[in-house]
Amino acid sequence: MMDQDKTILCIGAGYVGGPTMAMIAAKCPEYKVTVADINADRIARWNSDRLPIYEPGLEQLVAQSRGRNLFFTTDVEKGIRESKIIFVSVNTPTKTFGSGAGKAADLQFWEKSARLIMECATEDKIVVEKSTLPVRAAEAIHRILQSNTKGLNFSVLSNPEFLAEGTAVADLEHPDRVLIGSMTTPDGHDSMERLVEIYAHWVPREKILTTNVWSSEMSKLVSNAMLAQRISSINSISALCEKTEADIQEVSHAIGMDSRIGGKFLRAGVGFGGSCFKKDILNLVYLCECYNLPEVAAYWEQVVRMNEYQERRFAERIVKNMFNTVSNKRIALFGFAFKADTGDTRESPAIHISNLLIGEHASLAIYDPKAMENARADLAGTEGKIEYFEDPYEAVRGAHAIALITDWKEFTAYDYGKIFTLMEKPAFIFDGRNILDHKRLYSIGFNVFPLGKPALTHF
Ligand code: UDX
Ligand code: ADP
Repeated sequence: MMDQDKTILCIGAGYVGGPTMAMIAAKCPEYKVTVADINADRIARWNSDRLPIYEPGLEQLVAQSRGRNLFFTTDVEKGIRESKIIFVSVNTPTKTFGSGAGKAADLQFWEKSARLIMECATEDKIVVEKSTLPVRAAEAIHRILQSNTKGLNFSVLSNPEFLAEGTAVADLEHPDRVLIGSMTTPDGHDSMERLVEIYAHWVPREKILTTNVWSSEMSKLVSNAMLAQRISSINSISALCEKTEADIQEVSHAIGMDSRIGGKFLRAGVGFGGSCFKKDILNLVYLCECYNLPEVAAYWEQVVRMNEYQERRFAERIVKNMFNTVSNKRIALFGFAFKADTGDTRESPAIHISNLLIGEHASLAIYDPKAMENARADLAGTEGKIEYFEDPYEAVRGAHAIALITDWKEFTAYDYGKIFTLMEKPAFIFDGRNILDHKRLYSIGFNVFPLGKPALTHF
């Protein structure tokens, strides 16, 4: 018989909910972990051998517990009734309508989940916010839940997720820290202890931080804003490097060796993507505006604007260097995912760069090792010549240029001598991630345009 207290539900089987619950199930075999989602296709795929998301190591992790103490279902209501601890990991996209449109978080899915919890619950519950929410959201949720007329008590915890896609399994297994925010009541404290106990199955105690709810919510937004800010900072300098003889990789290396700055997240590129950075910064900006802090809002908003500039700059650099026209020229896109080792394309710079190139009447040949399904969906309905390839050597056939967008390792292992023979001449490579061997490509005959460093051209 399963101990009723040791039952966990996660509402939302996405990039966060799925992997996080798979890890908890694997590390806490005495808990029954259920993941529920209203999207029946998604649930069917979590129950199949073809998981809905690609993450290195995830298949094995899920297989380890699925059917034993890890279950995927569309029956959210039953899950609520049967579980003591309920994580909510539904999507909280940027609002597209009404007040705060374009910046504030759209909390409708969250609120729907909270109301459903309230309606279905027949006993006290601990509700854990896993989705990134604006500061003070937990308070609002707590109010909704406490408005129940059944005399039930709900405790709300904030437990933001810091995993990065592509390394989700490793990040979950060895997190830098786990953050748990709780209400400063005895009840809040008890609930927090319950969650600490779960993570303590595999995370050293000193890495489990407990704070008040608002600090926890704020820390999540600020972590992402600070990480994104480093990328925008280095990307802004890559533009300056291209105008001078400086080399952005040498600059990143030199400044990163200052232990106060540190070497991580200083890779210049085509811009940051992913579901979190832009959304969370805009959330922060909106909060600042609401609290009448326009200078603070403008400071953080610039991080997003710089990112848009970087994406645009990459596309414009292609056009300018291909004799000011890419009209009817085939450009092979290497990569569409927002980073390597994921099939996710949410907010991928590839989307914006594709649209800019299509606007210039280029013809696109897209190849990505894992993101083809999402690429097709993102560009569905886009007018223009777009082809999708399962084989990179087919994508480059007859192409005038290669635009490398994603830092997939396999791109460095291709036979560029063969690729050169398949392409139109002069052949161009725009390395938006600086992962290729530029000198070698140049010696093969390519005109090479790294990012943030001098071009290597034959004319
Ligand atoms: C991010 C945070 O890292 C994670 O803690 C949070 O939980 C969710 O948001 P994610 O978006 O999955 O994770 O990936 P991340 O590795 O942070 O990369 C985000 C984007 O920044 C990618 O497009 C990546 O290519 C880009 N990036 C990252 C750079 O351009 N340069 C860098 O130096 C690092
Ligand atoms: P994240 O990257 O934060 O995990 P995703 O968009 O990948 O976000 O996942 C969120 C999931 O939440 C989606 O699969 C969506 O179907 C699910 N979802 C949204 N609203 C509800 C709801 N009311 N009940 C159950 N699942 C929901």
